[in-house]
Amino acid sequence: GTTLGASAAESGRYFGTAVAANKLSDSTYVGILNREFKMVTAENEMKIDALEPTQGQFTYTNADRIVNHAVGQGMRVRGHTLAWHSQQPTWMQNMSGTALRNAMLNHVTKVATYYRGKIHSWDVVNEAFQDGTSGARRDSNLQRTGNDWIEAAFRAARAADSSAKLCYNDYNTDNWSHAKTQAVYRMVQDFKARGVPIDCVGFQAHFNSGNPVPSNYHTTLQNFAALGVDVQITELDIEGSGSSQAQQYQGIVQACLAVTRCNGITVWGIRDSDSWRASGTPLLFDSSGNKKAAYTSVLNALNAA
Ligand code: G3I
Repeated sequence: GTTLGASAAESGRYFGTAVAANKLSDSTYVGILNREFKMVTAENEMKIDALEPTQGQFTYTNADRIVNHAVGQGMRVRGHTLAWHSQQPTWMQNMSGTALRNAMLNHVTKVATYYRGKIHSWDVVNEAFQDGTSGARRDSNLQRTGNDWIEAAFRAARAADSSAKLCYNDYNTDNWSHAKTQAVYRMVQDFKARGVPIDCVGFQAHFNSGNPVPSNYHTTLQNFAALGVDVQITELDIEGSGSSQAQQYQGIVQACLAVTRCNGITVWGIRDSDSWRASGTPLLFDSSGNKKAAYTSVLNALNAA
């Protein structure tokens, strides 16, 4: 293939990117998006604060701009994200207990129902585990409603949309030996054993000097896949430049391609200037929209599959 999307599709995988609705009027951005990618994730527009800014009042305008663009281009959509401790609207930040649990479940149900049939995979729950060595759940208002909040969210999502794949998504879960990785693994293992509806695990894959690409990445993906879930790389970006960055991207793509159930890769933005990182050059296109060495190494790795 000559594009990321076409080359990934040759092995039955998708290649996607995060998209910001306010960039859909940028012709350079849209040109690359339409040419290269087959899957989109709304970078912010499907988060809780964006979709339910006032309790019970849902605003889908910006999210729908992205979904409609994707549908018009024959792209699919990853939904991001139904339940998260961050980017909650103020009304939700101030809630607790049963009221919060019910508000969260109502949000999951309403949003998953609205988008029923349009979503390839939902990040049902995002970032629910602590960093560091504890392996514990992250403290949050949602966690304080009870340890079963995650499975409750997954059951509500399945009831609302039986066709979307339901994913747990997190970061710093790339290194197999890290406590956070092990903790997420045990949760997925437990969910599968008890019939909690989980279909996939998303690995955000935000890499930098503090969180380098681990040499055991393939092991991590393979071990999760062996639990009976798909694995997806959901927010890939790698700090750096030149051949060093290109080699790290290549390693990530090769690790995914070596795992049958690693069925898709999404980068977290198109050009370096689109990245959430205030500085740095972590993406596949430079700020003018030119292909970087990292782009070429990813394309070649996909085509070698
Ligand atoms: O849109 C407002 C703008 O009106 C306002 O003037 C400006 C002032 O701060 O803020 C703008 O909103 C910002 C928004 O991005 C859009 O640019 C928010 O402040 C800012 O917090 C928000 O950052 C997003 C971040 O999630 C928030 O948690 C990033 O764009 C987005 O890339 C990032 O994505 C996350 C994933 O959802 C989860 N995994 C980690 C990943 C990277 O942090």
